[in-house]
Amino acid sequence: MSRVHQSVLLNEVVKLFSPCSLRVFVDGTAGAGGHSAALLALHPEIERLIAIDQDPLALVIASENLISWKDKVTFISGNFEDLEKFLDQLEVDSVDGILLDLGVSSMQLDRGEKGFSFLKDGPLDMRMDPRNPVTAALIVNSWSQEELERIIRKYGEEKHWRAAARAIVKARMQKPILTTLQLVEVLRTVLHVKPAKKIHPCTLVFQALRICVNRELEVIEKVVPAAIKRLKRGGRLGVISFHSLEDGIVKNLFRHAASDKWETRGIGGVFRDKEPEVRLVTRKPLIASEEEVEINPRSRSAKLRVVEKI
Ligand SMILES: C[S@@+](CC[C@H](N)C(=O)[O-])C[C@H]1O[C@@H](n2cnc3c(N)ncnc32)[C@H](O)[C@@H]1O
Repeated sequence: MSRVHQSVLLNEVVKLFSPCSLRVFVDGTAGAGGHSAALLALHPEIERLIAIDQDPLALVIASENLISWKDKVTFISGNFEDLEKFLDQLEVDSVDGILLDLGVSSMQLDRGEKGFSFLKDGPLDMRMDPRNPVTAALIVNSWSQEELERIIRKYGEEKHWRAAARAIVKARMQKPILTTLQLVEVLRTVLHVKPAKKIHPCTLVFQALRICVNRELEVIEKVVPAAIKRLKRGGRLGVISFHSLEDGIVKNLFRHAASDKWETRGIGGVFRDKEPEVRLVTRKPLIASEEEVEINPRSRSAKLRVVEKI
């Protein structure tokens, strides 16, 4: 297994935190510790860096890569949705910076046994956190056709959601679908690559299952307001997202926090005044340079948005 993950938008992250004095910093998605290492090297004022990851193996790798700063780093094995609970346990009231680099790492994608990749055979697992009771196999083999249609449509934005769900339900009546390549074979009967788009035909269904297994959108909705609440004045929160569903949520939550109005009864409802909590540091998301995309194709879809607490 590779123990390296190329951190995306590293220069942009470094630049956006450069005006801040980072006494206490939270890396909510430690991964291999690449972003943390860069910030620790450039901000000697960091007294404590709290590195969270829900994948215990990622924390082992991060701890190896951050060994030079071992006295400053506190590792937490858990989900960043519990950020406030972790800070309370550490008796940390507020922090100077928080980074969330969402999604999976290349180390996780490379581990066939995690079942994230449609290119490698492995159990249909897809859990970043091995303590999570819900696996992709459980969803694929026991959820109703309607539920499968809903998640493939909503989280995968797959045009052929109905056909994909129907193919899964039909195939599992013969025998359970337990491996990634078994699922690929099932989906191949209804999903085809379009010559203009080079993406694998199963990309969106795999994306949908991964988002669902790890509750990826729900946890962003929980963590962003909590992170903003626990930032010090002048502190910054940066979020790197990898698909439009994630970025849409981050954009809306940031806009809401930066606004001096809130809508009380949904769209078209009543507007009331409120104090803005943050200012938008990035009005438009930052994306990877052509050079970065060339070196690391995974950075192609990365978007970084940053807010500052006021
Ligand atoms: C893209 S990698 C981060 C890479 C890291 N920034 C680096 O430079 O090495 C994402 C990591 O975040 C973790 N992760 C994703 N969602 C999480 C969540 N809700 N709570 C905690 N960790 C999460 C994954 O397990 C993975 O290790």
